Amino acid sequence: MKILVTGGAGFIGSAVIRHLIAAGDAVVNLDKLTYAATPEALEDAAESPRYAFAKVDICDGPAVRAVFAEHRPDAVMHLAAESHVDRSIDDAADFIQTNVVGTYRLLEVATAYWRALEGAAKDAFRFHHISTDEVFGALGAEGLFTEETPYRPNSPYSASKAASDHFVRAWHKTYGLPVVTSNCSNNYGLYQFPEKLIPLMIINALTEKPLPVYGKGENVRDWLHVEDHARALVAVLTRGRVGETYNVGGDSEMRNIDVVGMICDLVDALSPRGSGKGSRRDLITFVTDRPGHDLRYAVDAAKIARELDWRPQETFASGLEKTVAWYLDRRDWWQGILERRYQGERLGLSKSTKAG
Ligand code: NAD
Ligand code: DAU
Repeated sequence: MKILVTGGAGFIGSAVIRHLIAAGDAVVNLDKLTYAATPEALEDAAESPRYAFAKVDICDGPAVRAVFAEHRPDAVMHLAAESHVDRSIDDAADFIQTNVVGTYRLLEVATAYWRALEGAAKDAFRFHHISTDEVFGALGAEGLFTEETPYRPNSPYSASKAASDHFVRAWHKTYGLPVVTSNCSNNYGLYQFPEKLIPLMIINALTEKPLPVYGKGENVRDWLHVEDHARALVAVLTRGRVGETYNVGGDSEMRNIDVVGMICDLVDALSPRGSGKGSRRDLITFVTDRPGHDLRYAVDAAKIARELDWRPQETFASGLEKTVAWYLDRRDWWQGILERRYQGERLGLSKSTKAG
C-alpha cells in the first residue's frame, strides 16, 4: 500500500513511517518542517526506495494537490498539526491555520482525488484523521473517555483539534469521503520535542536544571508509548470501520508529580549524580499552573481492543525506562535542539499574564 502521511517528520508521524517502511509499505511524507519536525528520526527510513518526501504546507491547496497527482496514494494518514497546548495559549493563530484551515484544505484535495478514483482503488481509499483525547475536555476523579463522550475542548489547541474532527466527520456525512478517526491519549518515547513534559523533565534532570511542575502536580494523564500508538494507527487505517472513531489509550494513568518522580529515579540510576548529592527529586519546583489546565484524562480503549485486537505492549514503567535510556544515549539530538530551537523556557503564560 502507498500511504500519504502528513506531519511525517514529527514525533508520532516519524514513528508511523518507521513502522510502515519496516512492514513493506510505500510512504509519501508531506511535511512543512516546522520547529517541531525531527527529520533525524527518519534517517534509516529515508534510505528506502519506498520513501518519498515533499516539503509542503497542508494549507497550500495547489501544492497538496500536486503531491496527490504525482504519488497517487492509496490512503492518507493525517497527523500534521501544531501540537503543543502551552504554545496555543501564547498564540492560537498557527493552531487555527494548520489544524482547522489546513485540515479543510486537505479534505478538499483528498475528496476530489477520491472522487476521480475508480473501482477497487476507490472502495479501498481511506482518509485517517489522527486526533487527541483532549477534545473531550477534562474528567473528574472518576470515569473514562469513550467514543460517545461529548466534545468539550478547553484549550485553543484542543478546540482546533475538535474543529478538525468535526470537519472530517462532515466530509464523510456530506460528501461520502471514507474516513476513520482516532483519538489518542498522551504519547511519550524517542524523538519527542523537549517542550513536552517527559522529554523536558529528562533533559532538565540530566542537566541539573529545575523541574517545573505546574500547580500541585496532581493533574493526571494516560500515557502511551509512541510505538504502541503507531501500531494502533496502522490497525485503525487498515481494519477500522469507515465513519467510525476509535479511542486509543495506554491504560496508564499517572499524576504528573509521580511521573516526574519516576524520571528522577531513573536518571539517578542510569546517570548517577556523584557522591554527596542526593536524589534529583530535589530539583522538583512547583510553578504557576497552566491556564485552563485539564485535571484528568483517561481513555477507555475497549472498542479498539474488541474490534481491532489492539492493546499496548509497553507498560509505563518499561516504556519510561527505555525512553530515559534513549535520551541519555542521544544527547547529540536534543543538544542540537537546545542550541538552535528551544531552550526549555516556560511557555503558555504570556496571554494570561497580559490579561491578568
Ligand atoms: P509534532 O508537533 O511532533 O509534529 C507535527 C508535525 O507536523 C511536524 O513535523 C511539523 O513540521 C508538521 N506540520 C505542522 N504544521 C504543518 C503544516 N501546516 N503543513 C505540513 N506539516 C505541518 O506532533 P505529534 O506529537 O507527532 O502529533 C502528531 C498528531 O497526533 C497531531 O495531529 C496531534 O494533534 C496528534 N496527537 C498527539 C499526541 C501526543 O501526545 N503528542 C496525542 C494524541 C494525538
Ligand atoms: O492527551 C493528548 C495530548 O497530550 C496531545 O493531544 C498533545 O498534542 C500533547 O502535547 C499532550 O498534551 P498535554 O498538555 O497533556 O502534554 P504536555 O506534555 O504539555 O503536559 C503533560 C502534563 O504535564 C500536563 O498536565 C501539563 C504538565 N506539565 C507540562 C510541562 C511542559 C508540567 O507540569 N510541567 C511542564 O513543564
